[in-house]
Amino acid sequence: MVGRFIVIVIVLAFIFGCSQSFIFTKDKVDCLISQWSEWSQINEFGEHSKQRVILRYPDNGGMPCPTDTEFNEIAPKVDCVMSQWSEWSGIYGLGERSKERVIITHPDNGGKPCPTDTEITEYTTTKPMVHETANQVITSFLQRNLKTDPAPPRGTVQSKIGLFRDLLIIIDSSGSIGSRNFEIAKKQLGELLSLICPLPDPFDSKVHNGNNRAALIQFSDVVIKEFDFDDKHNISDLKSAIMSVPYQNGGTCTGDAFYKAIQMFTSYNKGIRQNTKHEVLILTDGESNCGKDISTLLPTLHANAAVFGLMIGSYSDSGKAELTSYVTKPKPKHLFAVDNFQELETLLNLIRKQIDETNPCAPFDLSKK
Ligand SMILES: *[C@@H]1O[C@H](CO)[C@@H](O)[C@H](O)[C@H]1NC(C)=O
Repeated sequence: MVGRFIVIVIVLAFIFGCSQSFIFTKDKVDCLISQWSEWSQINEFGEHSKQRVILRYPDNGGMPCPTDTEFNEIAPKVDCVMSQWSEWSGIYGLGERSKERVIITHPDNGGKPCPTDTEITEYTTTKPMVHETANQVITSFLQRNLKTDPAPPRGTVQSKIGLFRDLLIIIDSSGSIGSRNFEIAKKQLGELLSLICPLPDPFDSKVHNGNNRAALIQFSDVVIKEFDFDDKHNISDLKSAIMSVPYQNGGTCTGDAFYKAIQMFTSYNKGIRQNTKHEVLILTDGESNCGKDISTLLPTLHANAAVFGLMIGSYSDSGKAELTSYVTKPKPKHLFAVDNFQELETLLNLIRKQIDETNPCAPFDLSKK
């Protein structure tokens, strides 16, 4: 009897003990800590630091928190590293040649800064032949931004795709050009635009919800915006709008045109798009002689668009330097020049001959637009 009672007590005690530990034992909670922050600014002692914070404290014997929640060190200096100078380019533009070097490592933590001269330009006494300039216009302006098409359309030879552009045309209508030559310039400009990829109509706004866009400003004593990026809807529309630009016959206030150009790229109501190439093509025949200071405007213009120049005429050394400064680096890919307006016609004839069925412009990545 007593023995039986003891057995029952032991069994009950066992059950009670088990249920105790079952009910009252909690899960372990590990410490939870954030990622390290970014490095701080460098302080006056040349140190920087990073922190991490405890998000949850441990419980029930879970993994404890690390004690290092801040890390300081002397910030390692990284000096700028430049490449070697390239070879001289071929003769281009107004008869110049250039060589360039590029930044390989950007400086950090107060390391040695990069030199600002990344391109050296030298003026020679020779000029490129018109057919050489035609080739440069084709490869650097008309057929650019090409990358290999991962899925070329069946039956096509070309396997390159490109980006659409929002192109601002700046046309000089100053007195030195003359009204007859101004008509030639406008006509040849229209011809050039009609050869931009993709053909047959690079400015057809109906296709693929995209395509290229062009806006135009002209300048002489005053700057006149003729049309915005979303005003013209096809190449014939665009060409006739260019042909009806009136001739001003005044000074050459190029800086004022650049000032207006910056506004065209930074205002939201001019039809400019994101995810397109923002470009400028300036046609001019001479140095600026009025208006705003050019050198202070160019960095802002270059930050907003790639600037191409089609220069017509011959220039003094200071004129060459000024016109060369308008265009984006690398200069050999952005600066084209002819001696006069007859040569401009020759240039376009040579370009047109090369862009035909045997050498079409590269197809664009239409599906992504
Ligand atoms: C070009 O656009 C204009 C105006 O938007 C239109 O009247 C004309 O029919 C268009 N031409 C072609 C060939 O699409």
